[in-house]
Amino acid sequence: SNLDTLYRQVIMDHYKNPKNRGELEGDALHINMNNPTCGDRIQLQLKVDDDKISDAKFVGEGCSISLSSASMMTEAVKGQTVEDALDMSDIFSKMMQGQDYDDEKFDLGDIEALQGVAKFPARIKCATLAWKAMEQGLNEEEDK
Ligand code: FES
Ligand code: FES
Repeated sequence: SNLDTLYRQVIMDHYKNPKNRGELEGDALHINMNNPTCGDRIQLQLKVDDDKISDAKFVGEGCSISLSSASMMTEAVKGQTVEDALDMSDIFSKMMQGQDYDDEKFDLGDIEALQGVAKFPARIKCATLAWKAMEQGLNEEEDK
């Protein structure tokens, strides 16, 4: 459909011109996460100040789905509170399970371009890699 074509285009744009790819300067959380099914890995870097994600970047290798998802995720969570970023992650995870999700609470923007991945179970781990890294980083930060 036209929507599928549009979504594919959005994914390819993020893959070819990723947002927030690179290293953060100064103190940041570094979270390494790998996709056990293929061995691809990314490192997510987060800065959390006063319960807000002030910056996010990533490095690493992966397929078009995983890297475009990392690009979209870092864009989406920058400036969000920890709680809202974790809520977004829940929404994304519902999307990946093909469940209904709340599309009103946040401007999900490009993230919704990945909803078609729900139909390809082998690729869901690619799409969720960066989100899992973000969740792990925030949970570790909260436990400190
Ligand atoms: Fe097979 Fe990502 S693990 S496509
Ligand atoms: Fe490895 Fe997608 S095939 S992250």
